[in-house]
Amino acid sequence: MADNPDRKMMMVAFLQASNCSNYTGSWRHPETDPGFMDLEFYQNIATTLERGKFHLAFIDDRLAMPSRFGDSFSDAVENGIRVVKLDLVPVITAMGLATKHLGLGATYSTTYYSPYHVARLFASLDHFTKGRAAWNVVTSLNDSEAQNFGVAEHLEHDDRYDVADDFLQATAELWNSWEDGAVVLDKPTGRFADPEKVHRVDYDGEWFQVRGPLTVPRPPQGQPVMIQAGQSERGRQFAARWGELLFVIYSTPEACKTYRDDLRRRTALAGRDPNAVRVAPAVYVVVDETPEKAQQKLKFIENLANQTDSLTLLSEVFNYDFSQHPVDEPLSDEILASMTGLRGFLDRVVELSGTPNPSVNDFIKWSGRGTLRELPLFTGTPAQVVDQMESWFQAEACDGFVLAATHMPGAYEDFVNLVVPELQLRGLFREEYTEGTLRDNLGFVRP
Ligand SMILES: Cc1cc2nc3c(=O)[nH]c(=O)nc-3n(C[C@H](O)[C@H](O)[C@H](O)COP(=O)(O)O)c2cc1C
Repeated sequence: MADNPDRKMMMVAFLQASNCSNYTGSWRHPETDPGFMDLEFYQNIATTLERGKFHLAFIDDRLAMPSRFGDSFSDAVENGIRVVKLDLVPVITAMGLATKHLGLGATYSTTYYSPYHVARLFASLDHFTKGRAAWNVVTSLNDSEAQNFGVAEHLEHDDRYDVADDFLQATAELWNSWEDGAVVLDKPTGRFADPEKVHRVDYDGEWFQVRGPLTVPRPPQGQPVMIQAGQSERGRQFAARWGELLFVIYSTPEACKTYRDDLRRRTALAGRDPNAVRVAPAVYVVVDETPEKAQQKLKFIENLANQTDSLTLLSEVFNYDFSQHPVDEPLSDEILASMTGLRGFLDRVVELSGTPNPSVNDFIKWSGRGTLRELPLFTGTPAQVVDQMESWFQAEACDGFVLAATHMPGAYEDFVNLVVPELQLRGLFREEYTEGTLRDNLGFVRP
């Protein structure tokens, strides 16, 4: 059990600047607002989350449409499978304008952008939002993203993390290129800033070279809060060095606790305070006033998914075209070995299906891809949902949760209206924001 009864949950909303949420079927829900191309759509969600005292809203990203399945984007377009991905900077800015306290996280790839660009962007966002910016550092997933940036093939998994290490060192130095207090703005003497406090960077890494200084003074938080989701061995090394908010997918609290314990140990070994990392698993919540109503709601939402959703997303995540095989044919060792992308998913399919050579049907059934079974699902009345959240939290499997939406904005509204009051009643979640930046609200020190 938890040794600290005052420990409070961290609450993060998982958002998509897209036609669908993480759950592809969400756009087909009659109550889903079709306004995903409008600022107001995102501002409306942001104000709801702020009403619910969420720490952070963070938006994922992909730099390509799904197009591995059948070597075409046509099924993805036809079925609305994550085909829209807006640029996140205007979305975050709009959400920042509608709120005062909510943290705002955007995903940016270290494989396809440059350190100077990303450092400048997040420094600007952090100033505009008075210290509420967070960066979800990703290394991107597959060849279709590479091909949108003039590169034939995506870099190998571990190499991508080597690039990312270099990238983050460069951005850290750029953010530090202006010392705190460098801007003087003294009109009578005509002195704008103290040149002794603004420095060249002269970063000369294996992958990136940056002269500096940055053209934006040091951000209010020193640097944005760093979000990371590496689950592989190499990903964990990276997270222990740079990560602050660690988002994960685990189906049981035991597996999540093993990860959290491991990451805290690795963080200490890297010379950092283990409390400087927080772990939050992504979950779906389907809640209503009675168990029966919640069950009905869940059934309805589950029926919004179709098999093309699963096959399209499986093809993307494994960087492999699943249309090549009859659905019931066991896939050979050779085929399985050729699947790059997320190994964790493959391990899960092999384990749950009980065969070393799963068929396409096994992949559909056991990966949960494109369905609500992809993530842990907490369902029932507010009290029942909070029981489930509490059991993960009190077992110290996690420090909070990343709420994925089953439909938009309804899933966020249900959570804020029904679950948040129950969490607060049990003393598991705060009643008010702390004054100051996102770092202040999370209890993280300023670098
Ligand atoms: C909640 C969550 C959100 C993620 N969002 C993105 C994203 O927006 N873009 C992306 O390319 N990868 C995303 N990922 C994938 C991770 O960046 C990472 O590749 C994955 O967790 C596997 O870790 P590994 O790369 O160490 O194997 C996300 C993962 C999780 C758990």
